[in-house]
Amino acid sequence: MAVSKDPHPINNIYYLNMSIPDLIPLEDPVLKQKAELVTDIASPGMQQFIDELMEACTHYEGVGIAAPQVGKSIRLFIMASGPNLRYPDAPKMEMEAVINPQIKTMSEENIIDYEGCLSVPGYRGQVNRAESIEVEYVNRNGVNVSATFEGFIARIFQHEYDHLEGIIYPMRMEENAELITIDDYHKLVEGSLRDQEE
Ligand code: NI
Repeated sequence: MAVSKDPHPINNIYYLNMSIPDLIPLEDPVLKQKAELVTDIASPGMQQFIDELMEACTHYEGVGIAAPQVGKSIRLFIMASGPNLRYPDAPKMEMEAVINPQIKTMSEENIIDYEGCLSVPGYRGQVNRAESIEVEYVNRNGVNVSATFEGFIARIFQHEYDHLEGIIYPMRMEENAELITIDDYHKLVEGSLRDQEE
């Protein structure tokens, strides 16, 4: 999808052929592959791809998106937690490009919660994730970053990291757990909010 675009707010480059990449379908084998290390972070092509993936994340109302989801099997994802139509209660953070990430430690405490995925449109499923994680990655400026993430942001990181390993969240669900539609998910959430108020 072609979009017209103002000069980039950070590097002031005007991309003549900036476009929002399409999501590949769930059955595409790229989603099941282990992705390759990124070795050319500073190249104009890679910087443009990072911008396009960020545009895609916003366009598709994601709180994260990984390069393999648009058919590029490289170890790069975007984290962009913030309230949107798909996740109205998501905590706000600066959009970040995460490159060649490593999860160094995972908390023993886990949380089971619903998550969704742009590659599994229309559904949510319960997945057990570490409550907090210590991670290392390289950002788009080539700087090494060490960080600790908790709760929903830690969940996003683990979900997107899985995409780089060829893992889609339904593969992490308990055997007896079911995917539910987003409509049913919203009914559940509204129901539990009502229960808390009563
Ligand atoms: Ni996903």
